[in-house]
Parts: sequence; C-alpha cells; structure tokens
Amino acid sequence: MTDITIIGNGKMARGLAARAAAAGKSVQILGRDINKAAELAKEFNATAGSATEIPAGQIVVLALPFDAAKEIVSRYNDALTGKVVVDITNPANYETLDSLVVAPGTSAAEEIAALTGADVVKAFNTTFSSTMAAGKVSDQPLDVFIAGDSAEAVTAVSEFVTASGMRPISVGGLHHARELEGFMLLVMGMQANPDLPDFNWNTGLKILS
Ligand SMILES: NC(=O)c1ccc[n+]([C@@H]2O[C@H](COP(=O)([O-])OP(=O)(O)OC[C@H]3O[C@@H](n4cnc5c(N)ncnc54)[C@H](OP(=O)(O)O)[C@@H]3O)[C@@H](O)[C@H]2O)c1
Repeated sequence: MTDITIIGNGKMARGLAARAAAAGKSVQILGRDINKAAELAKEFNATAGSATEIPAGQIVVLALPFDAAKEIVSRYNDALTGKVVVDITNPANYETLDSLVVAPGTSAAEEIAALTGADVVKAFNTTFSSTMAAGKVSDQPLDVFIAGDSAEAVTAVSEFVTASGMRPISVGGLHHARELEGFMLLVMGMQANPDLPDFNWNTGLKILS
C-alpha cells in the first residue's frame, strides 16, 4: 500500500517528495519521462513509474501545469474514484501574471473535480517550491491552505501536512479554491515586480497569531 503518488517530476514534485519523506510516507513518483521519475524517486527512497500507469497512492498529487493536470485526470477516468486528488496548480496567465486562465466564478480545482470521480482537494498552491525542502521559512512552519468538499479528504491531506512538519489550515469547501488561486495570482505578481524586492520566491504565506 502506497500513501502518496506524485505525478510530475518538477520543482513542486521534488518539494512534496521531500515533505512526504520527512513524514515517513511511502511515495510513488510518476512521470511522462520514466528516467526523470526514477531519478527523483531515488533521492527519496520512493518507487517510480510512468504517468500512464494507475497511481498506487491513496493520495494523488498533481504536480503538473493546469492543462496537463486536466489531461491526466481525464485520461485516468474512473481509475481515480475513491482516491484523494490534490490540485496544487496556479492557473495564471504566466506571460502577464495579471490574470487567471479560469473564468470568474470557478477555479482550476473545480474544473479538475468536474473531470474525475475522485475527491479533489486544493492545497499547496500557496507554498513556493523553494520553501518545500525545509517546509519552513524563517524557522516558521509553512501554512498550507486546504479547500475541499469531502471532510475525509481534507482530513487525509491535513494529516500529511502535519506529519511533514507544516501547518494545515482548512478554509472550507472546494469553491474556496477560487480565493486561494486569486490570492496567489496577486502574490506571484508581487514576486515578479522588480519594484518590490522584499517579495521573492523564498517567502511563505503565514497567518500569525
Ligand atoms: N513552483 C512553485 O513554486 C509552485 C508553487 C505552488 C504551486 N505550483 C504549481 O505546481 C504545478 C507544478 O509546478 P512546478 O513548478 O513543479 O513545474 P515544473 O518544475 O515545470 O514541473 C512540471 C512537471 O509537469 C510535468 N508535465 C508537464 N506536462 C505534462 C504532461 N502532459 N504529462 C505528464 N507530465 C507533464 C513535467 O514533466 P517533464 O519533467 O517531463 O517536462 C514536469 O515534471 C503548477 O501547476 C504550478 O502552478 C508551483
């Protein structure tokens, strides 16, 4: 039994694999390039496979661009039913960083949920990959904002977040992915703005108390 499957071998896949390894989870990494998947898996004592095979994990993280995430859940069809699918995407127009590519009144997470029978949870879209290796910024655990309609699925993702040394914050139903994605559009726009040098890709979003 595998705890977590990560689909994708890029920056977020690496960060998530590091956090999953820190949590003591069993991890499978799937990629369209099996060699890249195997290389990443080796670093974290994970298993590897092709993005065409059925994920083994109970939690399946789509560490992919939004279009690829939609394509892959559509391809898996019913095979993901009963699993928790985590959408981490930021569906921004990356040429301008000034708008989203999803229509107002919906979100990437809701679009992905419409394509699968799995329970979809939005999480990790507000944590930059550069901060995931440690799971901390300025020695403070990252906050991970989580939106989902299934209480069990949100609990499963929260348990992973806690076990990996970060703080889960459940923000409500999946429709709140709209705010998480919109907020992150603003943050990414600030990171990329040379007039705001304090905002960089090594920062974290944190609710202080
Ligand atoms: N980077 C961040 O700080 C950050 C933070 C929060 C959320 N996110 C979100 O996380 C997601 C991944 O971002 P990233 O920074 O990890 O990107 P990345 O480093 O470019 O990695 C993307 C991965 O997706 C794979 N991929 C692309 N198209 C695919 C397809 N059709 N089928 C299978 N695999 C495919 C790529 O495979 P190849 O290696 O074979 O090219 C690569 O492994 C994005 O949606 C992004 O918005 C990123």
